[in-house]
Amino acid sequence: MTSLHAQADASAISPAISSPIFRPFDGMIGAETDMLDLSRPLDDAAAGVVRAAFRDRHLLVIRNQSLDKERMYRFAELFGPIESHMIRLADGSKWDAVHTITNLDAAGNPVAKPFISSNYFWHTDKSFLREPSLLTMLQAVELPPNGGDTQFADMTAAYDALPEATRRRIQGLKSVQSLEFMRCYTGSAPPTEEDIAAAPPIAHPLVRTHPETGRKSLYIGMYSSHIEGLPEEEGRALLEELLEHATQDRFVYTHRWKHGDLVFWDNRCLLHRATANYEMGKHRRVLMRVVVKGTVPE
Ligand code: SIN
Repeated sequence: MTSLHAQADASAISPAISSPIFRPFDGMIGAETDMLDLSRPLDDAAAGVVRAAFRDRHLLVIRNQSLDKERMYRFAELFGPIESHMIRLADGSKWDAVHTITNLDAAGNPVAKPFISSNYFWHTDKSFLREPSLLTMLQAVELPPNGGDTQFADMTAAYDALPEATRRRIQGLKSVQSLEFMRCYTGSAPPTEEDIAAAPPIAHPLVRTHPETGRKSLYIGMYSSHIEGLPEEEGRALLEELLEHATQDRFVYTHRWKHGDLVFWDNRCLLHRATANYEMGKHRRVLMRVVVKGTVPE
């Protein structure tokens, strides 16, 4: 593997995306590299290059990694504090800060039906919290031979492509984000009273301004229940219309996982969802996951 540190020093003063380290994908989001070895700590210059690439491209793919929990946690910490207390899952279990997303049952066998079916709907992580997730990171551990992709939709490009009249209509509106709504919308088990008390519905701007780039993007997805101040049906219709617009193919990048991929993305301006395009009851799919806490959307 090429020495990261020499490369990073050379590119520390220029935007990461014009550095030799990250190759941008077509379109406005995403870049990849196979030049990083995250099994040891990055020096400051290298960390700066990765942060700059993340700010510019919002989704990074770092190939050929094999990080244990500790290293994955430490790398994610470059972007902010780690979310350590996850909301309790429908089956009563809680996640560790670094946990797995898997289709395996307790005996280690693949099951045909997903444990967390809501992952298959477009969402931005924890938008029902006052301080929703900033960044989510996944590392491929076991993959099916085909499929099991993850999709990402670019909410900045989607916002920019809206007709001017729609941009004016939605500016200043707030959508109410609700765990209870999401569970019903996605056909998942309802949350307990305790879950709702821990995360009551909260209104966030429908158009969010990215704190680092200053760019506007749509802040929508499966937790968006209704629009504050609009009749419920009108608000729902608007949310559905925006979601349909924002998840057109032209705004979507599909990540086809390879062994060793470490992928992380910016929840402030992307939606994501898992896709069930593999034989779930036959093949194993295991990803490690860690999430960085965000700030109040503005
Ligand atoms: C997620 O929604 O965080 C999981 C995505 C995936 O399993 O591909």
